[in-house]
Amino acid sequence: MKEKFLTLAIESSCDETAAAVLNGGRQVLSNIISSQIAIHEAYGGVVPEIASRKHLENMNPVVQRALDEAGVTWDDIDLIGVTNGPGLIGALVIGVAAAKGYSLAGNIPLVGVNHMYGHVSSNFITYTDLEPPFLCLVVSGGHTNIVEVEDYTKIKVLGSTRDDAVGEAYDKVARVIGLGYPGGPKIDKLAKEGNPEAIHFKRVYLEKDSLDFSFSGIKTAVLNHVNSERQAGREINTADVAAGFQEAVVDVLVTKSIEAVNKYSETNSNAAKNNGIDLPPRRLVVAGGVAANSRLREALTEACERESIELYLPEMKLCTDNAAMIGSAAYYKYQKFGADDLSLDAYADLSF
Ligand code: KG4
Ligand code: ZN
Repeated sequence: MKEKFLTLAIESSCDETAAAVLNGGRQVLSNIISSQIAIHEAYGGVVPEIASRKHLENMNPVVQRALDEAGVTWDDIDLIGVTNGPGLIGALVIGVAAAKGYSLAGNIPLVGVNHMYGHVSSNFITYTDLEPPFLCLVVSGGHTNIVEVEDYTKIKVLGSTRDDAVGEAYDKVARVIGLGYPGGPKIDKLAKEGNPEAIHFKRVYLEKDSLDFSFSGIKTAVLNHVNSERQAGREINTADVAAGFQEAVVDVLVTKSIEAVNKYSETNSNAAKNNGIDLPPRRLVVAGGVAANSRLREALTEACERESIELYLPEMKLCTDNAAMIGSAAYYKYQKFGADDLSLDAYADLSF
């Protein structure tokens, strides 16, 4: 019997061309990311057509590096996993076409992976004992959700943003105060030099008991602040704006996440009592690019300690887009549902 089960994973949903090799669902043998940040920086954001062209150039070399660094060849690969949505359609298509080509050429089974399942799965790599069910806060450039991870392949959405995703808000605010792309990490850094209480931006919690989010108002509030300061001839303190904005969004994310865990544990503990089973642990898992934010990590750590909730934060390099997380999700999907066929397609708006 073969001891190892090796997955080659490919990710190209936005501006990173990435490939990884995993053994099973949790052991990363290589994780290569070729970032296009330097190219898109000049345009202040990702240019989809350029992203697709770069993926096309980078794909074969990145995949070859992933195999080389893992010390394996195509003959060792048991499965190919590829992100097939959601994301930029032209970018996704490059990854999916490449994966189909490798699958056909090497007669290797292929599975399409939902990028958001990938983000959640980054935690299975960081915490090798972590198993569903658990609640997860998913915060990325395109998503803000509170989800219930019922199983590796079954995720239920409990709350969503009604407008902008939190990462999108970071990127837009960064543009307004002249920080450029990518906004999230730049605001994170600058906010450390500012006073989070100098400018108060309104926290939007929506209806009582709702686990939904809204971040478009705060973007407008920042824009209004900047315009009125300019009109008054005052210099804008960008560090204070960054710190004030960040504190407001982090407050909302933390409050809603704690609320969700409390609600969820209440439901679970009633069910446990009724069925005479042990109480499940109070846990909060976090995923997505914004999970790399230092203030969010700090505030969640404090709040979860206070509320006796076990907190799971993915390691930094697995927060933003990478192929290792796709390999993990691919492995579990294949175990449960088997392979996809070569009619696998890419979808810009694949939902959870
Ligand atoms: O998960 P991700 O890499 O791609 C998507 O699936 O969207 O997330 C990218 C988003 C961007 O909006 C970026 O600005 C944000 O994550 N981001 C951050 C930080 N690092 C990345 N936002 C706040 N603080 C950070 N340190
Ligand atoms: Zn992502």
